[in-house]
Amino acid sequence: MKYQSQRIAWLFFATCMLLFGLQIIYGFIMAFAHMGLDGLHDWIPFNAARAVHTNLLVVWLLSGFMGAAYYVIPEECDRELWSPRLALVQWGSLVLVGVVAIVGFHFGWWEGRKFLEIPRPLDYLVVVNVLAFLLNIGMTIWKAPRYTTTAMVLYVGLVAAALLYLPGMIAFDNQVFDSYYRWWVVHLWVEGVWELVMGGIVAFLLIKLTGVDREVIEKWLYVIVGVTFLSGILGTGHHYYYIGTPNYWLWIGGAFSALEPVAFLGFAWYGIAMARKGGRRHENGTALQWTLACCVMSFVGAGFLGMAHTIPAVNKWTHGTLITAMHGHLAFWGAYALLVLAFISYALPQLTGRARYKSALGQWAFWTSNIGMLGMTGAFAVAGIAQVYMERMSGMDFLEVQEALEVHFIGLALAATLFTIGIICYIVDFAKHGLPTLEALRVDPGTPPAPAAAEVLA
Ligand code: HEM
Ligand code: HEM
Ligand SMILES: [Fe+2]
Repeated sequence: MKYQSQRIAWLFFATCMLLFGLQIIYGFIMAFAHMGLDGLHDWIPFNAARAVHTNLLVVWLLSGFMGAAYYVIPEECDRELWSPRLALVQWGSLVLVGVVAIVGFHFGWWEGRKFLEIPRPLDYLVVVNVLAFLLNIGMTIWKAPRYTTTAMVLYVGLVAAALLYLPGMIAFDNQVFDSYYRWWVVHLWVEGVWELVMGGIVAFLLIKLTGVDREVIEKWLYVIVGVTFLSGILGTGHHYYYIGTPNYWLWIGGAFSALEPVAFLGFAWYGIAMARKGGRRHENGTALQWTLACCVMSFVGAGFLGMAHTIPAVNKWTHGTLITAMHGHLAFWGAYALLVLAFISYALPQLTGRARYKSALGQWAFWTSNIGMLGMTGAFAVAGIAQVYMERMSGMDFLEVQEALEVHFIGLALAATLFTIGIICYIVDFAKHGLPTLEALRVDPGTPPAPAAAEVLA
């Protein structure tokens, strides 16, 4: 690391590890409930477990994005963070809001709107928290001697994500309006502005890890961002098919969302092409592995599996089934969980000065978690297809179908166990790096020395 204020990122990353671990526990509670083993029902009913599982996911991902921004922005802007103290307070309040929300869900304090379950009073605290974060990052950029495309794409993505939280806070009596604006948050986040955050972070990682020139990497970043918005904004229509909105959304949503995979294909090509091009490649090969996995798996989970149910004629049958869970898992894992894990793998040795680049634990974490998640996606897919045929096409009773699907959740639990072993390895590796230290300042043991002038001329 170059600046001591970058150390604040570690707190956000440690928070990610903790909340990610908790998220997995609630995943297992639901997997067992699906098998008919719902012993915890009186304390943690399925709806509470589901809200906790998905909200913990969103909070740990946001915590990862914030940590990454606190690390990237000072380095890209060539100065210390504007206010490390404000960053510390902002971290504390983020954790506080997260804990209160999660505890509240167990007591039925929630709004019941998928992904936006956090009750209104807490929403206002989220807004204050995010404003403090954006002020700190914004002032750092404002006072900087230089700023880069990478920094600006990341910042614009974060500001836009904050603005798009607001439509979800408007109160409606009408279910159609409520759904309509809920998608402005959920869809325009993951298929719009979060992709800018992904673009900014992936570009930063590729610059650091592949050694390819910044100009080349940033030029392609513009192209991917362009395709994202061209397809993703009107692609929101794939959530407006049969919910009481006008019919033209069938065409608009179908056509534009079918173009969305192109942006993710762009990411896959981008990562692989830059890594192959190579330059002065960084020694932290594990971080590059996670970065490339993010580029490729986001295409598989979001692009390919999104495409699988985005056409109205298909979505008519699959809407709200386990097919959605299949896609939701691999898309979130590929695009955003892997993004945060890739960034942490890069930043941790920089923050702590411990270059555990080739640790066996790191490799176990990588392969086991990715193979486990692919297995989980397969289990959800098989269950989802069976569900669509039985419940939607043959008209079997909902609960009868749920019972028939129980067997598939044994497969899910087995794959999830493999996945969890991988994540435990990741968390142990994280702990083994130890705490950030000032001795790590301005030392990057992973970058090979610049070639001597004679070598360049030759
Ligand atoms: C990283 C990007 C993405 C993530 C994280 C993601 C995640 C999700 C999640 C969690 C849901 C369930 C939302 C809810 O019901 O509240 C969902 C729904 C959906 N996604 Fe994605 N998605 C991504 C990209 C895509 C893309 C690129 C496509 C199309 C090509 C797509 C197509 C769909 C469709 C059609 C639904 C509605 C499913 C239904 O009707 O039940 N997604 N996505
Ligand atoms: C041990 C690991 C995990 C298990 C056993 C698990 C299990 C489950 C189950 C059973 C559901 C509910 C499906 C339903 O509504 O019936 C669910 C929902 C969900 N999980 Fe997980 N999960 C795990 C890890 C993860 C991870 C790592 C992510 C993200 C990267 C994730 C993202 C989601 C999302 C987005 C939903 C909502 C899907 C939808 O809208 O349909 N889960 N999970
Ligand atoms: Fe969407």
